[in-house]
Amino acid sequence: MSVVTVGVHIVDVLARPVESIPEGQGTHLLEEMRVTAAGAAAGTAVALAKLGVPVASAGAAGDDELGDLLVMIMERHGVDVRGVVRKPGERTAASILPIRPDGGRPSFHVPGANLGLALADLDPGQITGARVLHLGGMDVTWGLHDPEFLALLESARRGGTLVTMDLLSSMPDLMPGAKAFLPHVDYFLPNEEQALMITGAADAEAAAADLLAAGPAGVLVTLGAEGSLVATASGTVRIPARDVPVVDTTGCGDAYCAGFAAGLLEGRDVAAAARLGTAVAARVAGGLGSDAGLDGHTIASVEGP
Ligand SMILES: Nc1ncnc2c1ncn2[C@@H]1O[C@H](COP(=O)(O)OP(=O)(O)OP(=O)(O)O)[C@@H](O)[C@H]1O
Ligand SMILES: [Mg+2]
Repeated sequence: MSVVTVGVHIVDVLARPVESIPEGQGTHLLEEMRVTAAGAAAGTAVALAKLGVPVASAGAAGDDELGDLLVMIMERHGVDVRGVVRKPGERTAASILPIRPDGGRPSFHVPGANLGLALADLDPGQITGARVLHLGGMDVTWGLHDPEFLALLESARRGGTLVTMDLLSSMPDLMPGAKAFLPHVDYFLPNEEQALMITGAADAEAAAADLLAAGPAGVLVTLGAEGSLVATASGTVRIPARDVPVVDTTGCGDAYCAGFAAGLLEGRDVAAAARLGTAVAARVAGGLGSDAGLDGHTIASVEGP
């Protein structure tokens, strides 16, 4: 498989535009609601599949109806879901996102089965067979904080797999667990809040330098509407976000990772892959949900002239 995503799988239920929660038992009529397969692994996999990149996703869901829905949505978009294990008696992770008129995205979240994803749930052959292995949300998949999983990553890398990693949370207590992965990762793609929290640095440049020193060949700090900062041994470049009308930025980070992984597969250099990530994220920002704006698109048409 070209890309394998491992980690967090979430069912997102999104609605817009939400100005407030109605008083009492009140009802507000809205324009749009969607259900998507999202989260740092599933959302990235769906974006890749929509762009025509062969992708498999591995993670954990409950044996509940939400899990059925998650798997159905991913399959519908063409993701190989044989690696999504169903855990009896557990809940499928889900978020409710009432999107504000300005695109702001408060959320309610149930972490569910993601927390218990463990090495025994994974197919080692699938991991080592990936050309790009994307780790999505290792801060919350505590079951993978396992020396044997790190050894599996090293075995994949020896075979030529490129390992990319993104995080899910912005919880200080969860950052040390994620930091342990850095020596085993080729490219790390945190958002600014995560980069500052994991390093204790004062700004994104300093954080990227610290993270680079911890092992990865490249660190890409995403800065929301400000774009991203791409740091490698040869220096740091800023890549501006595209100036697009924004509906909802849910999953922009996951979309950026998808474009970046697709760029690596094409053999692009880090900055060129980051520019593709930026283009994919901009499309996702233009609609509701982490997979918005990608229907009917190819890598070339997303990137434009
Ligand atoms: N308002 C915006 N306009 C255009 N592009 C945007 C906007 N917000 C985000 N992006 C693009 O998406 C990328 C990732 O965004 P961001 O830093 O918000 O990710 P994140 O916080 O990890 O999001 P996620 O919820 O997906 O994890 C940015 O680097 C930028 O290229
Ligand atoms: Mg993110």
